[in-house]
Amino acid sequence: MAVLFLSMGPSQIPMQARYWDALADEKHFCHPLNTAWLMRYAGPRARILDFGCGYGRSLSELQTGGYMNMIGIDFSFRMLSRCRSQIPDARLIQNDGQSIPLQGHSVDVVLLFAVLTCIPQDEEQRNLLREISRVLRPGGLVYVSDLFLNHDLRNLERYDRYVGQYGTYGVFKLPEGVVVRHHTNEWVEELTRPFCQVEFEAFEVTTMNRNKSAAFQYLGRSVTGTRGLIRGAR
Ligand SMILES: C[S@@+](CC[C@H](N)C(=O)[O-])C[C@H]1O[C@@H](n2cnc3c(N)ncnc32)[C@H](O)[C@@H]1O
Repeated sequence: MAVLFLSMGPSQIPMQARYWDALADEKHFCHPLNTAWLMRYAGPRARILDFGCGYGRSLSELQTGGYMNMIGIDFSFRMLSRCRSQIPDARLIQNDGQSIPLQGHSVDVVLLFAVLTCIPQDEEQRNLLREISRVLRPGGLVYVSDLFLNHDLRNLERYDRYVGQYGTYGVFKLPEGVVVRHHTNEWVEELTRPFCQVEFEAFEVTTMNRNKSAAFQYLGRSVTGTRGLIRGAR
C-alpha cells in the first residue's frame, strides 16, 4: 500500500523563535560539554561559536575551562537577554534563524548543542550545516550534541502519530506546541558527511522536559583546504 507523506510545509522558524522567547526564563538544558574533547584539538585562543547558545550554559563552561574568544548566536532575544544577565561581557548576536552573520573562514570551532532537534526539516538542517562549513576555517571543528530516535512506547507512539503530518519519522509536536525531531543514525551520518569525524559518542541525556533520551555527540573536522591543526590549537 502506498503511503502518502504530506510535506512539512512552510518553515517552522518564526514560530520556533516565539516559542523559545516565551520559555527563555524557565528552561534548563543538560547536554554535557566534553571539554576534554575540545582541549585535545583546540587551544584557549581558538575562536568558538556557540550556535543556538540559549542562556549561555556552554559559553560559561568554556570560559571556566580557559577559553577566551567566544561568540554566542541565537534567534531568541529573550534567551540572549538571559545569557547577557549571566555573562555580562559575552559577545552575542541575534540571528534570523537561518544564516550565521559572520565572515567566511573566521571561526575555529562551532558548537551545535540541542539545536538540530529544534530544526525539523531536512533542508533547513542542511542549510545550517552549509553555513557552519562556510564560517569554519579550513580544519576547523564542528561539535554536535543532539537526540537520536528512541524505542520506548511513549516515543514510538508520537513518532507514528506525526509521521503523516510532517513526513519525517521522528518529527513530532510537543504538548507545549513546538515541533521537534529525534534523528536516525543514517540521517546524522548523511548530515555530517562533509566533515571528517574525529570523535563520536552515543549516550543518554536528560531532556529539557526532564525525560531521558538517546543522544549522540559528534566532533568533526572541516576538510575544505585542511592542512594540519587549526589556529589556536595546542
Ligand atoms: C534546546 S536549546 C539549547 C541551548 C544551548 N545550546 C544549550 O545546550 O544549553 C536550543 C536553543 O537553540 C536556539 N535555536 C533553535 N533554532 C535556532 C535557529 N534556527 N537559529 C538560532 N537559534 C536557534 C533556541 O532559541 C534555543 O536557545
